Amino acid sequence: MKVVVVESAPAAARVVADLVERFVTTAPRPALGLATGATMAPVFAELVRRHREHGLSFARARAYLLDEYLGLDREDPCAYRNVVHRLLARHVDLGAGAVHGPDPHAADLDAECDRYERELLAAPIGLQLLGIGSNGHIAFNEPGSPLDSTTRVVALSGQTRAGNARFFPAGQAVPARAITQGIATIRAADQLVMVACGKHKAQAVARAVEGPITSEVPASAIQLHPNVTVVLRASAAVGLSESLRADTQ
Ligand code: F6R
Repeated sequence: MKVVVVESAPAAARVVADLVERFVTTAPRPALGLATGATMAPVFAELVRRHREHGLSFARARAYLLDEYLGLDREDPCAYRNVVHRLLARHVDLGAGAVHGPDPHAADLDAECDRYERELLAAPIGLQLLGIGSNGHIAFNEPGSPLDSTTRVVALSGQTRAGNARFFPAGQAVPARAITQGIATIRAADQLVMVACGKHKAQAVARAVEGPITSEVPASAIQLHPNVTVVLRASAAVGLSESLRADTQ
């Protein structure tokens, strides 16, 4: 595992954008796994900037959502498909239909999860972006999620719903359920890039990177993967041992 520690969120976004840029420009048919959330917003902004100013092209790429809420209208701005469209896809040259995700309106959600799982494994995902929840979740795999889990419907924890309330208009409840890629699904990607900024992530990051591998800390499963880069703003790295914090840029 490579750990890169930087001083600011924009610097973290640049490191992540470098990895994404290398991937989309060199992979024969780039399948990019996208997380959403506050951590990814500056990453998407940096990718858009590179597209506009340097011609970074996504024309050959396909993008795949990590997770999606259940119970929102199709046009709800908080639906992750719409977030990805608003912050990234509509500003770059991702082709029509290049953003893939589970259909949260499918009549049979279990069948839809199985369909998306098969689509992901066939893609296959070359580079998967990940954030981490302060409770150690990756995607919407909450503590207790089996390390061999696949794409499925999950209930969101109170902590996750409270944490995500900031993305919803006042008075709109955060959905109680979502579809998420499973931990095994995520691990099937060729390369994982996990990003975290802020002191409130430091404990989860330390447990994910250096703690025991356990379903109680779903992000600890990244330790099982042979090709992981963890990009941290210094504030999120304070719980790591000195040797790991050494690769500071
Ligand atoms: C979102 C996702 C989540 C977030 C995590 C961190 O697609 O999969 O696991 O990455 O909750 O969210 P932020 O970046 O908002 O702190």
